[in-house]
Amino acid sequence: MSRKASVDLASTGGARGGSLSLEEAARFGDTAIAVAAKAIAAHRNRPGALLPILHDIQDALGYVPEDCVGLIAENLQRSRAEVHGVLTFYPHFRRAPAAGAVVGVCRAEACQARGANELIRHAQARLGCGFHEAGADGEATLEPVYCLGLCAQGPAIEVNGERHVHVTPERFDAILERARYGGREA
Ligand code: FES
Repeated sequence: MSRKASVDLASTGGARGGSLSLEEAARFGDTAIAVAAKAIAAHRNRPGALLPILHDIQDALGYVPEDCVGLIAENLQRSRAEVHGVLTFYPHFRRAPAAGAVVGVCRAEACQARGANELIRHAQARLGCGFHEAGADGEATLEPVYCLGLCAQGPAIEVNGERHVHVTPERFDAILERARYGGREA
């Protein structure tokens, strides 16, 4: 039996009002609601469905739009506040599109012991932003990550999914410069 999910289409840009089923929502092309509907359909019968749903949406869109929260909440029979709470609790989830290169700097203990804090200070000064923010010129978005599995070679960072080790402030600048122009660090 098709389960109906109420979703405020006005908030998704449709301005049509009313509700739609997950199957209907999944036909909304590449919109956030269609992506969310597909993720919900794939996971909603699993225990702990919320996290894999949020991961699927972020993998598809690069972030989890606020518009998806209501649809997820209704289909998992949770409140919007609960979904929002999980979304904001985990630093991994982005609530706005990233700008430029996505730069993750490891903040876990082994990297800290190898100079990550100095590297973080440099990254924030270079980009002019804090974690979960994009630099003013849109060059990059800075994210904290917690262990990339390269602990003995820290400080470690990840730029657009590519990992780098033994990163000094000077190497950070070089890596970022190459990411900006689509190249790889030598
Ligand atoms: S602690 Fe940074 S990669 Fe493991």
